[in-house]
Amino acid sequence: MNAEAPGAQNAVEASGITKSFGGALALDGVDLTLAWGEVHALLGENGAGKTTLSNIIAGIYRADAGRVVVDGVEHQFRNPAQAIAAGIGMVHQHFRLVAPMSVAENLHLGSPQTPRLVTEKILVARARALMDELGLHVDPTAKIWQLSVGEQQRVEILRVLSRGARVLILDEPTAVLTAQEAHDLFGVMRQLVAAGRTVVFISHKLNEVLEVSDRITVLRGGRHVVTRDTAGATARGLARLMTGEERELDVTHRRIDGSAVLTLAGVSARNSRGLIALSQCDLVVRGGEIVGVAGVSGNGQTELAEVITGLRPLEGGTITVDGTDLTNASARQIAAAGVGHIPEDRIGVGMVSSAPVKDNAVLRHYRTDELSAGKQLKRTAVVRFAERLVAAARVQTRSVHTPAGQMSGGNQQRLVAHREALVGRRLLIAAHPTRGLDVLATQEVQSALIARRDDGAGVLLISDDLDEVLLMSDRIAVMYEGRIMGMFDRGDADRARIGLLMGGHAEEAFAP
Ligand SMILES: Nc1ncnc2c1ncn2[C@@H]1O[C@H](COP(=O)(O)OP(=O)(O)O)[C@@H](O)[C@H]1O
Ligand SMILES: [Mg+2]
Repeated sequence: MNAEAPGAQNAVEASGITKSFGGALALDGVDLTLAWGEVHALLGENGAGKTTLSNIIAGIYRADAGRVVVDGVEHQFRNPAQAIAAGIGMVHQHFRLVAPMSVAENLHLGSPQTPRLVTEKILVARARALMDELGLHVDPTAKIWQLSVGEQQRVEILRVLSRGARVLILDEPTAVLTAQEAHDLFGVMRQLVAAGRTVVFISHKLNEVLEVSDRITVLRGGRHVVTRDTAGATARGLARLMTGEERELDVTHRRIDGSAVLTLAGVSARNSRGLIALSQCDLVVRGGEIVGVAGVSGNGQTELAEVITGLRPLEGGTITVDGTDLTNASARQIAAAGVGHIPEDRIGVGMVSSAPVKDNAVLRHYRTDELSAGKQLKRTAVVRFAERLVAAARVQTRSVHTPAGQMSGGNQQRLVAHREALVGRRLLIAAHPTRGLDVLATQEVQSALIARRDDGAGVLLISDDLDEVLLMSDRIAVMYEGRIMGMFDRGDADRARIGLLMGGHAEEAFAP
């Protein structure tokens, strides 16, 4: 469908937008111009002001100063309904769907266009018509709780578009998505702008921004830094603009002949639903190397990390660490053997959100002589340990007595990553360690992994970000449907071959 023919050349012209929260300046005279038919990336580190600016354009916050012109007409939105009426809709980081209700019901909930007397059948038919019109499909009869995160997001997008939005603002939409879902979303975004709409794509992931956007605006510390065409932009240049710093991660790859720290032989395991998730996996990680595991998420990577760290039982096979058999050993025994684990679900598995930062800092160390005598914790030693860790990990928190859950996600993640790097004297299992982090925090976590490796530990890096795997790994294993499909030295790794293996195409496909 073609969106209504726009009157003005630009969809939105925001100028001089200023906003402070209790004296703290979040936006300082920011300009943003959005053209019709473009994907406009809003790029910036955590706290740069991306969400605040979007909330002002979408009528959720009111600016202290500045103007917002939509399609040639100046507006002063007092609420989101007025913004939607002017054609601006936003999909937030946290979805606002009603889980027990169906997709069709959610699409019509609160819509002024929903007929008063309506049956589920009519709602479903209307939902189908809308989906056909927009080329965006989700089973309209499914309940929200039955959908994947990617599908729920699609419902949110449909909801906003069904209200007539011609400018769609997506606030960090990929933060919750798998690589495949993100790829699908990019398809949707391109399709929307091809039909004349405008999409604002908020992200701090440079690769994504380079892949999907037409133009990029960089914000830093509440200020507009630059607006430019995406064509010709580089990740390095953008990172510099975002952070204001010239920093490059220095990764030297190595070929290691040292002895194995971790050996998996014929390892099989089931997932939480009882299905085979790992099937006869053989894998060796040597001291002093990073082995990256590439793969589309959901191909056994999570279970791989869990069996190694004692969180999931093996069905068959053996796991040894430094020659000691740790097959089906407890998580505590495995940690005692020097195996650290940065879990995929940092907040759920890696942290106790209600407990203070200091307790989380020592969560895996408190049985040491440094921190406890018999069953008694040494309180000052715990505080000192926590303060050291907080400083080393550059965690921003008011104090180590603050509940960990009150810190931002990025800070929680840094705390867990550095804590586990300490546990992993011999081996560090890192599952998506930089997911959701901004550029600087990503580099810090990656540096921590490299430092561990350079100290002689083995590192197993699981990531669905192929760029990260290629950047960090000395060797690369590719997983597909619970099997290791191939193993490469970094020097021999080629993106196309790895991509094919990730999709389940076996090596024979490469025979001349
Ligand atoms: N509702 C709010 N109350 C107080 N401070 C806020 C609020 N929203 C944002 N801020 C502050 O404004 C700044 C910009 O935040 P935000 O727009 O969320 O950044 P981004 O989306 O780029 O990460 C940050 O310093 C943040 O702490
Ligand atoms: Mg934000």
